[in-house]
Amino acid sequence: MSATTPHGGNLRQLAAQAGRPAEELLDFSASINPLGMPPAARRAIIDHIDRLGHYPDPLAGELVTAIAEAYRVNSELLLAGNGSTELIYLALRVLKPRQVLLTAPGFGEYERAARLAGAEIKWLRLSKKNELRIDPAAFIAAMADCDLALLCNPNNPTGHALSRPEVAAIAEAAKTHRCYLLLDEAFADFCPEVSLLGHFYNTHLLILRSLTKFFALPGLRLGFLLLPRSLRRAFLAHKEPWSVNTLAEAAAVAALADEEFAQRSRRFMAEERPWLAGELARRTGARVYPAAANYLLLETPQAQELLTGLLQQGIALRDCSNFRGLNANFLRTAIRSRQENQRLLAALATIL
Ligand SMILES: Cc1ncc(COP(=O)(O)O)c(C=O)c1O
Repeated sequence: MSATTPHGGNLRQLAAQAGRPAEELLDFSASINPLGMPPAARRAIIDHIDRLGHYPDPLAGELVTAIAEAYRVNSELLLAGNGSTELIYLALRVLKPRQVLLTAPGFGEYERAARLAGAEIKWLRLSKKNELRIDPAAFIAAMADCDLALLCNPNNPTGHALSRPEVAAIAEAAKTHRCYLLLDEAFADFCPEVSLLGHFYNTHLLILRSLTKFFALPGLRLGFLLLPRSLRRAFLAHKEPWSVNTLAEAAAVAALADEEFAQRSRRFMAEERPWLAGELARRTGARVYPAAANYLLLETPQAQELLTGLLQQGIALRDCSNFRGLNANFLRTAIRSRQENQRLLAALATIL
């Protein structure tokens, strides 16, 4: 394993590979809402500049209240963080699991955080026969001898989402097995119908959310965690103060209040996703995996050729060859605006 986990969206590195300035790149490698940040968030950032002369609230109380209202959850059980990544590492540090269940493929930071916490990893390999879906029965069986399981719904990089009843069944089984379930819903704002947040609670369930993808603020870093009550003290005892900065807090409070933005984003994705999936399958012959969020996983023997050819034209997709459980035939593309998606399709046509 390399010292850090490779990710999409590393613009400097991609620009160097493409031999052009980062501003000229069209980045499909990170999965960010193509509508951009809500206008109210931009205004809030500008309006709060002068507050940078003071420390932020150590636990981002105003943001926690806004999250509790937006998702109808108990504010006492929430922790806000510097992106959901901070909270993944915090959870592993606090829970100190002996054995952690992870899926392959899955989000790369889980493995790194688990290894740094000294845990053994048990891998649940997702099968192509099952379209790389997570099989709830197999996940439940695999949890039996673990003390922590990480479940990503919708999963990254596959895009597939389990239904709310399926995830609830896994959360119930986690409690029975006395295994904590860290449910990563980083992309669930695109498909709230599958989320457990505000719909299910038990003593072994931790729900993690990112605010960087749906609200298009990855540079600002924002995420939160809903905890079982029994874990709150331990998490507070391990958490660094001030990890949500003043501008991030102000932007997120404004973003969460913008219901029109949320609806517009979901409507857009619900139309654009099947359209782009269909066009990509038709034009490239790739297998496009079923998806519920703002990205698509493609499998084609031409993946590396496409990645290289696109990068030469200033278009970056995510090479998925370094995901455990995938290989050089896999790539992931974000779903961007119609115009940008058409640019991608046109560029692909010049390579194929
Ligand atoms: C599944 C998943 N979880 C968590 C994260 C971390 O996101 P952030 O730290 O920006 O909230 C990512 C980022 O790509 C992700 O894909």
